[in-house]
Amino acid sequence: MKAGQENMSDKIETREFSIDDYDAALQLWRRVKGLEIAEGDDKESVGQFLVRNAGLSRVATHGSAIVGVVLCGHDGRRGYIYHLAVDPACQGRGLGKRLVDECLAGLRRAGLKRAIILVADDNVQGAEFWKRCGWEEIHGAKPMGIDPEGVRG
Ligand SMILES: CC(C)(COP(=O)(O)OP(=O)(O)OC[C@H]1O[C@@H](n2cnc3c(N)ncnc32)[C@H](O)[C@@H]1OP(=O)(O)O)[C@@H](O)C(=O)NCCC(=O)NCCS
Repeated sequence: MKAGQENMSDKIETREFSIDDYDAALQLWRRVKGLEIAEGDDKESVGQFLVRNAGLSRVATHGSAIVGVVLCGHDGRRGYIYHLAVDPACQGRGLGKRLVDECLAGLRRAGLKRAIILVADDNVQGAEFWKRCGWEEIHGAKPMGIDPEGVRG
């Protein structure tokens, strides 16, 4: 931490992500490198996610500005963390880890024993962050996906 940054970090507060934070969160997601805005990231879908996973997603604020955001949810078996982003001006002061720790505390309270994240192949810095925070690569597993809407059966 550089000299003079302590005061600003002190003033950063965290709280539950409300759908009213969506526009600022979207701007932050667009501002950082390493995140891709994709299907499920529109306001209505994020609102549904927040309702379904009440109390788990977090934002960090500095005054009226949103300087950190993370989405967190679970399906009853695994916890999932998405779209962690810290404003570049506030990175490197423990805020990303603080938000993730708060997500993990929420997942623990919900009885979850394991959490998963997907890190883009080319997001080397993001992967370093997760490793530094104790997360391990899952060897022997390859993420796969499908869009149910595209399948007729
Ligand atoms: C990844 C990100 C959220 C980290 O936020 P941050 O607030 O800067 O991270 P923190 O300060 O909490 O770092 C926690 C630890 O990780 C380390 N760390 C953070 N970024 C790192 C990097 N790029 N390389 C190596 N270590 C890193 C810190 O040094 C710290 O280590 P320490 O506990 O030993 O001091 C932030 O860089 C970001 O928004 N990146 C762009 C979006 C992104 O990639 N999100 C993740 C998508 S999967």
